[in-house]
Amino acid sequence: MAIMISNPFGLFADPIGYLRRMAERNGPVVRMEFGPRQFILLNEPELIEEVLVRQAVAFEKFPRIERTKGLFGEGLLTSEEPLHLKQRRLAQPAFHRERLAGYAAEMVGATRRMTMRWKDGEERNAAQEMGNLALDIVSRTLFSTQTDEQAGRIGDSLDEVVKTLNHLVTPWGNVLLGLPTQVRKRYRAALGELDEIIHGFIAHRRQMTVKPNDLLTMLMEARDAESGLGMPDVQLRDELMTMFVAGHDTTANALAWTLYLLAAHPEWRERLEKEVDEVLGGREARMEDAAKLEMTSVVFRESLRLFPPVWILGRRALRGVEMKGMKIQRGAVVLVCMAVLHRQGSLFERPDVFDPMRGEPAHRYGYLPFGAGSRLCIGERFAWLEGVLCLATMAQRWRLDLAEGARVEMQPLLTLRPKHGLPMVLRERNT
Ligand code: HEM
Repeated sequence: MAIMISNPFGLFADPIGYLRRMAERNGPVVRMEFGPRQFILLNEPELIEEVLVRQAVAFEKFPRIERTKGLFGEGLLTSEEPLHLKQRRLAQPAFHRERLAGYAAEMVGATRRMTMRWKDGEERNAAQEMGNLALDIVSRTLFSTQTDEQAGRIGDSLDEVVKTLNHLVTPWGNVLLGLPTQVRKRYRAALGELDEIIHGFIAHRRQMTVKPNDLLTMLMEARDAESGLGMPDVQLRDELMTMFVAGHDTTANALAWTLYLLAAHPEWRERLEKEVDEVLGGREARMEDAAKLEMTSVVFRESLRLFPPVWILGRRALRGVEMKGMKIQRGAVVLVCMAVLHRQGSLFERPDVFDPMRGEPAHRYGYLPFGAGSRLCIGERFAWLEGVLCLATMAQRWRLDLAEGARVEMQPLLTLRPKHGLPMVLRERNT
């Protein structure tokens, strides 16, 4: 039987807490009615596998991102089949192993430049620092941006766009859509600026004879296996904008939450530092080090479990679906809330405890920071590499403590972020 949500205030005020309580009270399948729409919260890995993998063709992404279409257009995140598959094939080589080696150097370089600005004893908002870092990395690996002026322009516009998006893309975003015109105006202006920048990059790149080894070049040179054709500029723009947004806000939050967890668990921070000192011995990290940085990797994995940057996924049934004896009616929206799933007692022992040694999750579809199936995050390996190399590079010289009196709370918007930022005190290690 469906539960009527007649007073959605609790859901909007604290969506994760609300959905968690629903799951704890009502079990792995929670049917909820909200206005004319039925939502089904799934907390059972096998049913999740049905929706995201086995019967994925019976679902479309939800919310249908018309509201963000002006931003992502028909990019990978928002397009549906058959365009999505075609584009996915074209973009995939940009994330192959050999490509990642080049990106690794940018990741380490950007982290070092950031830490060179840090001063011992200084307090900074680590969430903001990680945001700038992730933006620097994604703009260098995507477009080989070089100047701070370029980076500054991109950063400001992107900040504005993400701020607005944060209020639009929750599964119940429709209800929240009463936008004041000032916000809409600023959003449009920022989007126009980003468009201009990206089209400028594309046009400039077309004129270059020696092209840098980055994602933009890869995407421009990709050819469809059947037609031999490349992507038109509008499609290129949509893919670049998508990667730009999807590739920085997520990793920024993943890094920020990991720094928070390390500060809260100094014994783990010491283990990580010891490993980093042994593996790197004072030199710069390289791509092949990532596999040896085991403690760093398990810390990052556990951080993505406790604080999954993409905290919820929505899929709308295109037709009536039956799976494992359960019926989903056409139009119903299935919710997979990773922030709830990852803390479920039946899947993880002492689920709220930070325990990087807990090993692989009991069920493959019980741990989904990058989603699953044909819509699995294309940047997953990129993100792992970035997480591990940036953390290791920071830990070589720096230790971050939570500032006194800092309040840390989850704020689930477009991504899961620390609500009040993350004020931290920077301490230089005596190495
Ligand atoms: C910790 C970092 C990251 C997390 C947690 C994350 C998470 C996710 C998730 C959960 C999805 C699936 C969305 C859905 O099924 O509706 C996704 C898709 C996607 N991500 Fe990521 N992501 C991260 C980093 C990145 C990076 C670094 C890039 C690019 C450089 C990227 C690009 C994309 C794209 C293009 C898609 C759409 C893929 C498709 O539908 O084919 N992500 N991401």
